[in-house]
Amino acid sequence: MSEKAEIKANVISNKAIGPCFCKLSLRIPEQYYPIMSRFLPGQFAQVAIENLGSPANPRFSPRQSVLRKPFSFSSVEITKNHIIAHILYCVLGPGTEKMTTIKAGDEINMIAPLGTSFTVSDDLETALLVGGGMGAVPLQSLAEYIHKNHPKKKMIAFIGARAVKGLPFFHTHDHLEKGKIVTEIEEFEKYGAKTYIATDDGSAGIKGFVTELLANKVSELSIKPANTMIYTCGPEPMMKAVAGFAHKNNFKCQVSLERMMACGIGLCQSCAVECSQPGQTETVYKLCCKDGPVFDSAEVCW
Ligand SMILES: Cc1cc2nc3c(=O)[nH]c(=O)nc-3n(C[C@H](O)[C@H](O)[C@H](O)COP(=O)(O)OP(=O)(O)OC[C@H]3O[C@@H](n4cnc5c(N)ncnc54)[C@H](O)[C@@H]3O)c2cc1C
Ligand code: FES
Repeated sequence: MSEKAEIKANVISNKAIGPCFCKLSLRIPEQYYPIMSRFLPGQFAQVAIENLGSPANPRFSPRQSVLRKPFSFSSVEITKNHIIAHILYCVLGPGTEKMTTIKAGDEINMIAPLGTSFTVSDDLETALLVGGGMGAVPLQSLAEYIHKNHPKKKMIAFIGARAVKGLPFFHTHDHLEKGKIVTEIEEFEKYGAKTYIATDDGSAGIKGFVTELLANKVSELSIKPANTMIYTCGPEPMMKAVAGFAHKNNFKCQVSLERMMACGIGLCQSCAVECSQPGQTETVYKLCCKDGPVFDSAEVCW
């Protein structure tokens, strides 16, 4: 398990991205440098929601915001002078709606970094990043990490959503507002990752599933499984399909799973993931918060 700390961070900004998404930017005091300098892509934070922003919307019970909520970092910038971390969130229920009322200058309490990370081996040549909707968030941090630490490795990102409005990026929403066609995702391209987009309704990229796009491009670009890793995060049926593609075509694949998390630190057992064991028929239950969220796709019982 990763080393973690209870971190008090200061909010720099909390900006809306279109009607459903927000980007929360945090300044983390330098006393947390030893902990945050060990952050790896795929790890997450358990954010305390209860005392954040305005009182909960009256249509929700205050009890719904008592537990901390898990969020990935879309980017963690660490320099000698500062640590800036970004969380990209989708407004879904009581917790995330409360988060929209956070203002610059507020203080956030979170436990981080938690869980396992994506791993990048020295012999890796090509990283295929396959994200669906908010699943693109930890992959953005992975792209940043590979760009910074392994600049010679090739990255290709495949990002899917139901429609162009479901792509949680400033770049895509900015294009939408200006009536421009979205053809790439700047948030990945800036790290040297060529991006391909798939939407269910064809409002950006190809019309279809991101898994079809992945299969077509792998064949078109003659990408071979040796020295290639598929990294994926998104809705579970999408990740299951990506894991199936990887298995069928002999690609190695890492998946970042989501489970409901009550504690986030391995105590409550609420985040079980059924996994196989090499050479055995009996399965075991691992914890998404502690043994994950990143797993080898081959060990997950889909
Ligand atoms: C490791 C991890 C990383 C995550 N990273 C991000 C992120 O970067 N950005 C982001 O927007 N969201 C992320 N999530 C999901 C986020 O935690 C939930 O969307 C959030 O807790 C919803 O809280 P809420 O009170 O607004 O809504 P709730 O009322 O709690 O939930 C709204 C809906 O989302 C479902 N849901 C809530 N939490 C989860 C969960 N953990 N897994 C699956 N379904 C869930 C509920 O069943 C419900 O249907 C992550 C979850 C995990 C486990
Ligand atoms: S969330 Fe409590 S054990 Fe994983």
